[in-house]
Amino acid sequence: MSESRTALSWSEAIREARARLAQAGVASPRTDADLLAMHVSGLSRTRLLIANGVPAQTLRAYRDLVQRRIDRQPLQHLTGTAAFWKGELAVGPGVFVPRPETELLVEWALGVIADIDSPLIIDACAGSGAIAWALAGERPDATIWAVEADPDAFEWLEHNLKGTTATGLCADATEFTTLSDLDGQVDLVVSNPPYVPETVEVSPEVLADPTMAVFAAHEGMAVINDLTFRAHQWLRPGGWFGCEHDDSHVRAVPALWRAVGFVEVTDHEDLAGRSRFTTGGLSPHTSTDEETPHL
Ligand SMILES: C[S@@+](CC[C@H](N)C(=O)[O-])C[C@H]1O[C@@H](n2cnc3c(N)ncnc32)[C@H](O)[C@@H]1O
Repeated sequence: MSESRTALSWSEAIREARARLAQAGVASPRTDADLLAMHVSGLSRTRLLIANGVPAQTLRAYRDLVQRRIDRQPLQHLTGTAAFWKGELAVGPGVFVPRPETELLVEWALGVIADIDSPLIIDACAGSGAIAWALAGERPDATIWAVEADPDAFEWLEHNLKGTTATGLCADATEFTTLSDLDGQVDLVVSNPPYVPETVEVSPEVLADPTMAVFAAHEGMAVINDLTFRAHQWLRPGGWFGCEHDDSHVRAVPALWRAVGFVEVTDHEDLAGRSRFTTGGLSPHTSTDEETPHL
């Protein structure tokens, strides 16, 4: 038996949703209304424009999703996916939703490994596995470890990395025992760690991310600090480290890295002109016997 259809077209249902979302102050009402309609109907944007008579049950489900978005549940939790790089990752409560800005770090990473055959890479604080997943898609010859400490997030990571050449490891990336057999050999360490200072107020959508994915002690520097020393030990001479940070860390991160011994330290801005990530390398002349300094 076919489901009963309402008199409402998809265009009308979407218009109604856009108005409700806009009135509730949701930042991107048009996009969200469209994406939720595509998700609930299984139709493309174009098909939605010409489809008449939204089935009654589907309309109820759509209005329910719109209400949850008005209640500021992240769009990606409602659709179950986050667009990243050239595809989509599975996400939901318990894992950080990857942000488009992190694609800039992926682009930089692909540049530094462009001339390295079968590079050895560590994605530290890997969350959903976004960075490792994007790198594995572009460089199937790479050996990639994706290290994530939170067991809930790690379940999402394992799901997303299935079928790729990247391997997940549920561990504290800042511990000197983690992947210690790779010390002095790694070509590239990439990371988008938690870095928001605990005093900063964030939007309800960011609060839906796990706390340990977002906030860090010591004005947001706690994990970055420890990871800097860990990356220094993992890397081979000439290897590279790229790490996202809060824009308030624009001076602190490069200063720390230079003090620890990284060279060619550069800070990079995102498309909005905010300081977003720092990159640096180990000098090709670094002796592997050299101790990582303790500041
Ligand atoms: C900002 S999220 C980024 C996730 C992913 N890299 C991305 O860009 O979407 C930071 C992640 O680091 C994890 N994390 C925090 N401290 C960690 C640690 N010491 N070792 C490993 N993972 C850690 C959190 O659980 C969270 O999944």
